[in-house]
Amino acid sequence: MGTGDNGEHGKGPRANRRFRSQEWFDNPNNPGMTALYIERYLNHGYTRSELQGEHPVIGIAQTGSDLAPCNKIHLFLMDRIKAGIRDAGGIPMEFPVHPIQETGKRPTAALDRNLAYLGLVEVLHGYPIDGVVLTTGCDKTTPAMLMGAATVDIPALALNGGPMLDGWWNGTRAGSGTIVWESRRLLAEGQIDYEEFMDRVCASAPSLGHCNTMGTASTMNAMAEALGMTLTGSSAIPAPFRERMAMAYETGRRIVEMVWDDLKPSDILTREAFETAIVVNSAIGGSTNAPPHLQAIARHAGVDLEVEDWQRIGHDVPLLVNMQPAGAYLGESFYRAGGVPAVMGELLRAGLLRGEAMTATGRAMRDNLAGWGSRDRDVIRGCDDPLRTRAGFLVLTGNLFDSALMKTSVISDDFRARFLSAPGREGIHDARAVVFEGPEDYHDRINDPDLEIGEDSMLFIRGVGCVGYPGSAEVVNMQPPDALIRAGVSHLPTVGDGRQSGTSESPSILNASPEAAVGGGLALLRTGDRVRLDLNAGRLDALVAPDEWDARRAAWVAPELNHQTPWQEMYRAHVGQLAQGGCLELATAYRRVRESLPRDNH
Ligand code: FES
Ligand code: MG
Repeated sequence: MGTGDNGEHGKGPRANRRFRSQEWFDNPNNPGMTALYIERYLNHGYTRSELQGEHPVIGIAQTGSDLAPCNKIHLFLMDRIKAGIRDAGGIPMEFPVHPIQETGKRPTAALDRNLAYLGLVEVLHGYPIDGVVLTTGCDKTTPAMLMGAATVDIPALALNGGPMLDGWWNGTRAGSGTIVWESRRLLAEGQIDYEEFMDRVCASAPSLGHCNTMGTASTMNAMAEALGMTLTGSSAIPAPFRERMAMAYETGRRIVEMVWDDLKPSDILTREAFETAIVVNSAIGGSTNAPPHLQAIARHAGVDLEVEDWQRIGHDVPLLVNMQPAGAYLGESFYRAGGVPAVMGELLRAGLLRGEAMTATGRAMRDNLAGWGSRDRDVIRGCDDPLRTRAGFLVLTGNLFDSALMKTSVISDDFRARFLSAPGREGIHDARAVVFEGPEDYHDRINDPDLEIGEDSMLFIRGVGCVGYPGSAEVVNMQPPDALIRAGVSHLPTVGDGRQSGTSESPSILNASPEAAVGGGLALLRTGDRVRLDLNAGRLDALVAPDEWDARRAAWVAPELNHQTPWQEMYRAHVGQLAQGGCLELATAYRRVRESLPRDNH
């Protein structure tokens, strides 16, 4: 484990260290292979003494590209990362990562998280790399990179590209994604037309960077920081700020020291680190995508974590961050108020974090947070004056699924009053189920009067989980029929075996596992069934007689899966459920892959 007491960068005790890369570049026992390995890298203009000297080779996993605009800023940060690596005595080697653009990839970028993970593991294992900078940003890029680093277990330091600048529309903040969900309701109400809809949404993306709301991107980068896998204060810096470039440089410097100290993901990704991340997720109003991603990282790190931990550890934590979709502000304000370490400083002071976990700085989290707290109480509240108490997720169960999540920080007063506040039945809501077979079916039929959707309806969507979609789609935040919206009902309770965007303010019940495509209870539900949501008991049940339910199960036939690409077929064959992280199950058995040196290639 790294001790962090090596003093200045590059000045530590370094006797008898042999780097992994030297197995490629400096092996006198095998001159034929050494020459073969080294001659092609000399093409860069490196000298033999650089590649054969005491210079750790630092991979830089490049997730940015023209196809991945949320992470494209990393193309411009690369110079600063490399400068930091060189100044600390390392050799930078940038390599491309399979793109994972949330807004660009169909049928869903979720399908690509595990593919990029596999690619990263293969690169880190098969090339002369001693440590790695993980460039992160857009939603799934962050977990994919952390999952890969956890499996290989070489020193790894994450650097995100930062959120875009704040978007503005007619004098108010236009937040990534959140403005889409707002504007589509205005469109349904007839308050705006198509042109204004387009202008409003495009105003939310004023610069390079990832989503400027506390959507999945900002959430997952906050999670990376809370886990201890970034430098302190790294995750919230907006993409175009000079501090972002400076952080890129410091990240480059620090990863070289982490290699010298042999400070690995397995030293950092402990059970306490994940518990810390869960607490932070509640306090920032983080995305419902965080549980499956954290679960996946934990499994690849060999840490026991269960979806129930999110309620047990996270539910009672207050919401401190006033940022869309749970609050009002966007990324620039969050950064100026101190960002993630300010939130964590408030939590630590209130006794909600332990702070003992080792971090990438080589120090315990508590030490990193010394002196940190909110710099703007309107944006980051203290624990004694939160935006909301008990702001974490509920983990529900019942006869429709073993587990599903509900994000309580976005339950509006109107929603609570309408559905969860009947006198004597607080937290309980009975409804009539309306079931859709995926988003196409939903779009085709949502305005069909024959469905008789009213205020007592609960909308269900199925076939949109990991196996069903494939990849698990962000479609559970279904909006009510246009007529109901015009009548003032902006949200109905919605349920599904897919996910929803982290930028959505919908209090959906989602990530239902097991999904319908593998025979989860949702598969048996029919339009017209009565259902009961009981938040006090933590249950959602179809009120169908047991005999009838059993008969439906006996008659259930697994849906035929239509694979469009080889990867879709491979993914479906090996993926687990969202409650277990949606991992490639066979991959979770691999640990510390770096310790097994691959065979020579000639
Ligand atoms: Fe890429 Fe939100 S779509 S960060
Ligand atoms: Mg999304």
